Amino acid sequence: MHNDVERILFSEEDIRKAVNELGKRIADDYKGKNPLIVGVLKGSFIFMSDLVRAIDLSCDLDFMVAKSYGNAAVSSGTVKIMKDVDADVTGRDVIIVEDILDTARTLASVKEHLSSKGAASVKICTLLDKVTAVKAADVKADYKCFDVGNEFVIGYGLDYAEKYRNLRYIGVLKREIYER
Ligand code: PRP
Repeated sequence: MHNDVERILFSEEDIRKAVNELGKRIADDYKGKNPLIVGVLKGSFIFMSDLVRAIDLSCDLDFMVAKSYGNAAVSSGTVKIMKDVDADVTGRDVIIVEDILDTARTLASVKEHLSSKGAASVKICTLLDKVTAVKAADVKADYKCFDVGNEFVIGYGLDYAEKYRNLRYIGVLKREIYER
C-alpha cells in the first residue's frame, strides 16, 4: 500500500506531537467539566483513540456514524446519520471529533443534530482542515491539528474505498489510483 502513496504529508512523529498538544489544550479548556467526546466513525477512530489518551481529564466517550462520500473521491453532497450517540446529550459539553473538515457538510449536520438534542455546548475538533475546499456550511473547527490543501489524503484513519486507514502516517494518494 505504501507504493500507492505519492508523498508523506505528516509523519507519525508530527502527528504524535500535534495530537498531544491538542489534548493538553482541550484538557485545560475543559478543566472542571466532564465533556462528552463524540467520534464520527469511521474516519476518526485512530485520531480519537490517541486524542482521548492525551486528554488528562474525566470524560465520557461516544460514537456516531455519518456517511457522505460512499466510495467516490468527491463528496456526494448528502449526509446520512447511520448511528446516533447512545448517551443522553442534554446539558452536556460535547466535543465532536472528526478526521477531516472538507465541505463541512458532515460536521454541520452532526453539530446541528447534537445541538438539537439539548447539548449545553458543541465544539468541533478535527485532525485535518481542508482549507482550500469550498465550504457548503458555515462551520469552523474549534480545534485542529493540521491544514491540508486539495490533495487526496489518506492514512491515520482516512481511507480511499475503505483502504489505507491503517497507514501510520498521513499521505497523499497517487492520482492514478483514484482516477483509474
Ligand atoms: C469523510 C470524513 C468526514 C467527511 C468530511 O467521511 O471522514 O466525515 O467525509 O467531508 P465533508 O466535510 O465534505 O462533509 P466518509 O463519509 O468518507 O466516511 P468515513 O468517515 O467512514 O471515511
